[in-house]
Amino acid sequence: MTDKFYVTTPIYYVNDKPHIGHAYATIVADAAARFHRLMGDDTFFLTGTDEHGQKVAQAAEAAGRSPSQHVDEMVQRFQSSWEQLNISNDAFVRTTDPKHTRAVQSIFQKLFDQGDIYKDAYEGWYCLHEETYWTEGQLKNKKCPECGRDVERMTEESYFFKTSKYMDRVRQLIEDGTFEILPAVRKNEVLSMIEGGITDVSVSRTAFTWGVPLPFDEDKVVYVWFDALINYLTGVGYMSDDESFQRFWPADVHIIGKDILKFHAVIWPAMLIAVGGEEFLPKTIAATGFWNLGGEKISKSKGVTVDPNELTAEFGVDAIRYFFLREIPLGNDGEFSREALIRRINYDLANDLGNLLHRFVPMIEKYCDGVFKVPSEIKPIVPGQADAPALIIDKMRSLDFNLALQLIWEHFVSPANKYIDDSAPWALAKEGQQEAVERVMYNLGESLRVISILLAPIMPATAEALWKQLGQSGSPMDKKLPDDVKWGGLEADTKVSRGAPLFPRLEE
Ligand code: ME8
Repeated sequence: MTDKFYVTTPIYYVNDKPHIGHAYATIVADAAARFHRLMGDDTFFLTGTDEHGQKVAQAAEAAGRSPSQHVDEMVQRFQSSWEQLNISNDAFVRTTDPKHTRAVQSIFQKLFDQGDIYKDAYEGWYCLHEETYWTEGQLKNKKCPECGRDVERMTEESYFFKTSKYMDRVRQLIEDGTFEILPAVRKNEVLSMIEGGITDVSVSRTAFTWGVPLPFDEDKVVYVWFDALINYLTGVGYMSDDESFQRFWPADVHIIGKDILKFHAVIWPAMLIAVGGEEFLPKTIAATGFWNLGGEKISKSKGVTVDPNELTAEFGVDAIRYFFLREIPLGNDGEFSREALIRRINYDLANDLGNLLHRFVPMIEKYCDGVFKVPSEIKPIVPGQADAPALIIDKMRSLDFNLALQLIWEHFVSPANKYIDDSAPWALAKEGQQEAVERVMYNLGESLRVISILLAPIMPATAEALWKQLGQSGSPMDKKLPDDVKWGGLEADTKVSRGAPLFPRLEE
């Protein structure tokens, strides 16, 4: 039986175009999905857009458009950015899709009917940016404790979700690891949030109309977070495609940013237990850190931004994907700079990986007419290579792409470069030791073949290009981990095919 794997990204607000912070979570999820497909797992990868709420309505107004015109236009920017980044999502969910809004209304109704949503009056301080009410005591210097912006005094009739009722259970499930939160520092953060007391969440709004109308009170719309979280259900077929929903739910991992931890690790599990019981909980919430620029969080609203499309146009998709996954462990903050990016491209990609291929292909052409011959003895070029794939696979499984990439370089890329110098095939050729030359060429080809498959989740286009230059048939995407990275799988008697340099060196 194959395993299944369902991974999601946050759904992004369409109040502006994507920046590299959004791209990061999406690249992490894409690498995870591609890795699981290579493992042979039945995989579903969901991303999408969060299109309701006052922030989006105001952005539309500022742009002189109706909210629905605005979201239709903005969503294309996200979709085209993800295409440029080679993101392999299986579906794209939009919260304005009637399939989604119907399910939101139905869940709202169900929770109301079972007494988990109740009506009350709300008096408090409202932060427009966070779309959240705060009590006097929660404010920090009379400002929003979350974003530091001004808050307004508001009184309104509101519906509340009994979040507090589920907190003991959620805490236990986090503590015993059934509901996993990564990294550990975020798990502790959630446990102390719960320890500090969780109040029931207001799940309706009256101040604006751009949202899902309450099923039984059309003057109100559903709170944007209650609406948005449900995307993870509707995007995989909840109430529209039962076969798909049964096949993939519960989610295996929600990739999120650390700023939206409370919604995913406190409110969402409470909602899910209320809707479907504990079996409905996702297995893991993995929270990423922030990318900063000059020490400040990249954020469109603060005007600190880097456009992923400009980066891919200038440096190429795979260099960008590599940089973000190699530069920091998941969960850490990262500092983005052109210098750091160019250094990674020059050292790791041009000097190490690119050079390995560009030294190798002309050599096999010169000494062996470009054709691999199977040597009498097939064995890895350095000790440790036989065990390395299992380690690398393990790291990828736990979303530790930073370490996985380090290990690929340590066990395959660097040893192969050194092997060329140590075995000096040009000298062997001069001495007429053709069999030895063929063995060296086979070993180098085999190193590159294994590298190509292991890199496929992270740098899919590079993996394909490598594969083609090696003259191997099929595609690295169609291979299966771990079987196909066992040493000795190189297809022999095929001819290499010289191609353009993978990563030209850049001016530093
Ligand atoms: O919060 N570095 O949407 P959003 C890393 N719609 N990641 C960053 C980042 C940065 N500088 N800036 C943003 C929302 N992100 C909601 C989500 S999910 C049901 C609803 C990432 O567009 C980070 O993952 O404001 C953040 O959580 C996500 O973008 C969404 O940001």
